[in-house]
Amino acid sequence: MSSNIHYFGMVNSTMDIAREMAKNGCPDFTVVVAEQQKNGRGRMNRAWLSDIGGLYFTLVLRPDINLTKVSIINFLISLGIVRVLRSKFNLDARVKWPNDILIFHQKICGILSEMETESDSDSVKFINIGIGLNVNNYPLVKDQNVTSLKLLLYKELDKMEILLNILDEFKKLINESFNNIVSEWKMNTITLNKKVEIVTLKETIKGTAIDIDENGSLVLETDEGLRKQIYYGDCFV
Ligand code: BTN
Repeated sequence: MSSNIHYFGMVNSTMDIAREMAKNGCPDFTVVVAEQQKNGRGRMNRAWLSDIGGLYFTLVLRPDINLTKVSIINFLISLGIVRVLRSKFNLDARVKWPNDILIFHQKICGILSEMETESDSDSVKFINIGIGLNVNNYPLVKDQNVTSLKLLLYKELDKMEILLNILDEFKKLINESFNNIVSEWKMNTITLNKKVEIVTLKETIKGTAIDIDENGSLVLETDEGLRKQIYYGDCFV
C-alpha cells in the first residue's frame, strides 16, 4: 500500500482539507500534513494549539468494515504511535483511553477521528484520523500537562522521518487481528484497573476501568456497582 502525501504550510485544519479530499474520492491512505494550523481542532470541541515544530496530519482511511467494528481503528492508530515512540526513541509511551498518548503522564500526542458512513448501509465511506504529535514545539496548554519530543530528548528531530515511521507502523498493524491489537494496546495503557472519571458531553461517570469489550468500548464498573460500556469521552485517571 503506498501513501499519497500532500504537504501544506499554514492551513486552517488538516481535517478540513482531508474531508474535502475524501468527499472528492481520494484514495485510501491519503495523508494531509501541515506545518501549522490556524484552527487546529481537538476532541470534545476543543482547540488544538498548532505552533510551528509540531507534526500535524490527517490520514484518510477507507476500511472495508462494518460500523460496529470501527473502534478498532482508534486502537490501531494509538498503538502504532506508541510502538514508534518506544522503538525509535526508547520512550515509555502509554495510551490513556480513548487515545491520548502520554509519556510520564504528560500528553505528547492527541488523536481526533471523523467518519462518514454510507447513507443506505452500515458501512464506512471514509474515516479521517487527525494526529497532532508534539515534536520540536514547546506546547503551552493552560491547565494541561503536556510535553514534546524536543523537551524530552533535548534535540531537534526530523518530523518527516517520524511521519514515515508512523505510516509504516500503521500499514503493518492493518494486517494484524483485532485481538492482537487490543491485547497489545491493553499492555500499553494506563487506564485499565484504575479508578477513573469519564466525562462525556452529557455526563460524568466515576468508577473502575475494567476492560475493553469485543466492540472496543471501555467497560466501567461504576461506584454504584453497575457495569457500563463507554463509547467516547474524556478520561481522568
Ligand atoms: C485531541 O484533542 O487530543 C485530539 C487532537 C488532534 C489534533 C490533530 S492535529 C492534525 C489534525 N488537524 C486538526 O485540526 N486536528 C488534528
